[in-house]
Amino acid sequence: MEIKTVGVVGAGIMGGGIVQVCAQSGYQVVVSEINDELLQKGMGTVGHFLDRAVKKERITSAEKDEIMGRIKATTDPKDFKDCDLVVEAIIESLELKKEAFKQLDEICPPHALLTSNTSSMTIIDMAAATGRMDKVAGLHFFNPVPVMRLVEIVRTIVTSDETLETLRGFSESLGKTVVIAKDTPGFIVNRLLIPYLLNAVRVYEAGLASVEDIDTAIQLGLNHPMGPFRLLDILGNDTTLFIADNMFNEFKDDTYAAPVLLRRMVSAGILGRKSGRGFYGEYK
Ligand SMILES: NC(=O)c1ccc[n+]([C@@H]2O[C@H](COP(=O)([O-])OP(=O)(O)OC[C@H]3O[C@@H](n4cnc5c(N)ncnc54)[C@H](O)[C@@H]3O)[C@@H](O)[C@H]2O)c1
Repeated sequence: MEIKTVGVVGAGIMGGGIVQVCAQSGYQVVVSEINDELLQKGMGTVGHFLDRAVKKERITSAEKDEIMGRIKATTDPKDFKDCDLVVEAIIESLELKKEAFKQLDEICPPHALLTSNTSSMTIIDMAAATGRMDKVAGLHFFNPVPVMRLVEIVRTIVTSDETLETLRGFSESLGKTVVIAKDTPGFIVNRLLIPYLLNAVRVYEAGLASVEDIDTAIQLGLNHPMGPFRLLDILGNDTTLFIADNMFNEFKDDTYAAPVLLRRMVSAGILGRKSGRGFYGEYK
């Protein structure tokens, strides 16, 4: 199946990045938001990143205009009526995502594939809100989307082979490398990352070493670009806790049980960079 027009629901951090890479790869893109203000903000961010690419001479200013010209920004979900593929990138709420999938199923043409960029929700729960479960899958991009090369395609127990292969071809056309994962919480990356981050908090809580020394040990001893606490501060303690709780609820396995310290930090609003304070003191 050929993809020409891609819909993106939500123009936040991830939606904006997905819009950018799709339009840069030559697709017609329709992006929606809940109001004009957020839509303009999302489009402003896309424009800003493309301006930077022009400054760095990665694209010309004419190319930037062409890319922006391929994007239709809207607050009317009916504008998804000609999409061949839609990527849902709204906030991490299963109820809202199910509503979005039900609406997309009613609006999009019967052949359209419907996908979610969720980090932790179960794809089949969204697929079940549609009348086309075989055409629903997870399409999990990483932040920042234009930079990160991985896409996890999440296959439910009823996703068809054709859907999977179309999504693989589409993701590769964006310059991404694809891995296929089953529809279980965390897929591949977060299934391994979350226990690692929780363990880092546990060993710090147990007094093994300071935040700085644990980060230095991992960075220099394992050649990671950053240690677990820098990463936690970037991801956000609330996001990490949310995903960990989801995984614990599903697996009932202590590997995913969040340490008390992480929960207390979230209660105190110490969320990492976004709140100005995290495992590393103050962020300006
Ligand atoms: N931020 C990350 O690092 C990251 C990485 C991978 C996956 N994800 C996943 O991507 C999704 C989006 O995350 P984000 O960080 O971009 O969130 P975000 O809060 O930056 O953006 C979500 C946007 O969706 C909009 N929205 C909500 N309901 C909508 C609707 N019905 N129609 C249109 N727009 C709607 C919101 O107004 C908001 O602007 C989540 O499922 C998240 O788990 C996030």
